[in-house]
Amino acid sequence: MAKKYLKRIFDDELEEVLDMIGAVLIVGPKWCGKTTTAEQHAKSVLKLQDPDNRENYLKTADIKPSLLLKGEKPRLIDEWQVALYYGMQLEQVLMNLKEMDYTS
Ligand SMILES: Nc1ncnc2c1ncn2[C@@H]1O[C@H](COP(=O)(O)OP(=O)(O)O)[C@@H](O)[C@H]1O
Ligand SMILES: [Mg+2]
Repeated sequence: MAKKYLKRIFDDELEEVLDMIGAVLIVGPKWCGKTTTAEQHAKSVLKLQDPDNRENYLKTADIKPSLLLKGEKPRLIDEWQVALYYGMQLEQVLMNLKEMDYTS
């Protein structure tokens, strides 16, 4: 049976900020619900840690990161820090979001 999603205070806050700014970075300890909450609001999801696709995603992050950002918005990029180990810096991620006019 699928687990029931329990709405949190952060859900309304996230909805509000997604209307105002182009990118939201969700930070918190492991298992606190970052992915689950983000999934409620995302229209597309990229899981960088997906073992079947991880290597391809990381190569793409180095070669043409804008490809990873393509998808219906808001787009969730889960475990995005994985790409840092492969040279894609946060600043670069945000620059790409800006270039793509990532407004929602
Ligand atoms: N709002 C919520 N309602 C119900 N279950 C939740 C909620 N948020 C998280 N969980 C559950 O808690 C566990 C950890 O959540 P997860 O999103 O994977 O955490 P994180 O991404 O921060 O490591 C999962 O089993 C998830 O189903
Ligand atoms: Mg997670």
